[in-house]
Amino acid sequence: MDYSNVNQLAEAVFPYAVETRRHFHAHPELSNQEFETTRYILQELENMGIPCVTPAPTGVIAVLSGRKPGKTLGIRADIDALPIQELNEVPYCSQNPGVMHACGHDAHTAALLATARVLRDLEFPGTVKLIFQPAEEYFPSGALAMMSGGDLDGCDAIIGAHVFSHLPVGSFCVEPGGKMAASASVNIRVKGKGGHGGMPHQAVDATVAAAAILLNLQTLSSRELDVHNPAVITIGTLQAGTAKNIIAEDAFMTGTLRYFDNGLLPQLEASIRRLAGHTAAAFRAEAEVEIVPGLPAVVNDPSLSQLAVKAVQGIGGSLLSVKPSAGVDDFAYYAQKAPCLYAQIGAGHDASFPHHNPRFDLDERCLKQAVAWFTAFALDFLETDAPSAL
Ligand code: NI
Repeated sequence: MDYSNVNQLAEAVFPYAVETRRHFHAHPELSNQEFETTRYILQELENMGIPCVTPAPTGVIAVLSGRKPGKTLGIRADIDALPIQELNEVPYCSQNPGVMHACGHDAHTAALLATARVLRDLEFPGTVKLIFQPAEEYFPSGALAMMSGGDLDGCDAIIGAHVFSHLPVGSFCVEPGGKMAASASVNIRVKGKGGHGGMPHQAVDATVAAAAILLNLQTLSSRELDVHNPAVITIGTLQAGTAKNIIAEDAFMTGTLRYFDNGLLPQLEASIRRLAGHTAAAFRAEAEVEIVPGLPAVVNDPSLSQLAVKAVQGIGGSLLSVKPSAGVDDFAYYAQKAPCLYAQIGAGHDASFPHHNPRFDLDERCLKQAVAWFTAFALDFLETDAPSAL
């Protein structure tokens, strides 16, 4: 494959990608409210002559058919913004008070539109489905809405990318294995018996039992799990009691679990139930435990990772090894449909303003890198007969 041609094509659409990204940046919309963003994407795709489906009130799937039959590749970009008041002073600053593209989803959307422009004029076998997905920053996730109509059934692979401003422009991480964490919510109610603060023998102190449970839960990751298959539990809230001289009848805590192996949740749940239940019993109290699964982990397919490495090298990018993040991304859901690959793309800017910061911004040259990589990967994937041939 001629990768130099891919770079030239990405260079040619770079001004369009920048202009489009700045439009989205100036007009950010919150999760599930991306109506203007969706309208803009649909208009652009119509101008390109690319047919679309809209399986949800916001979001778009564009369908690019090649000249002959073949495999189907999905490429996903998330399109939503965050409830943050932008503090940057740039010409393309957010015009929507209290809403900001502070995670780079404006770049994802613009890069995918620019990729549509490039692919539209190329010859390839098979089909590319461009997934402009709403509500990544929300639960339940917009990924489920995009899959709900069956439009992604039959995909042979689905790829996605996220720009990261702490990684240098031109760098890519496309390693196999767990890249973003799975999450679950933990709710524990401790039931005791209320009483007078001076007479604990007549009561069962739910606060003391809850405190012991909270501490014992921290032994889960340090004393029960394989160090190579880690998890973290954070109890973020603990509520108990009404006055200083009243022994609390109840205590309630909520927390989050993060882990990288989707198969680990049953073990974590069993451990939390045992630790909470037996600790409560040691204090004559009872614990009710509720575990609510959240997002699965983003796990990169090894074969797709090999192909992604080839595309990065082909376009002259540099390969980075990045530690898995305990953040989450609902891209993980697409693994229900097909093998997946999630690329982390360098968008190096001012590292003192991380993602979700009101002064977050990115180096727009990342758009060119994303378009070149999407295009190179798509052509390589579609022109390769079967994953086993990699
Ligand atoms: Ni994001």
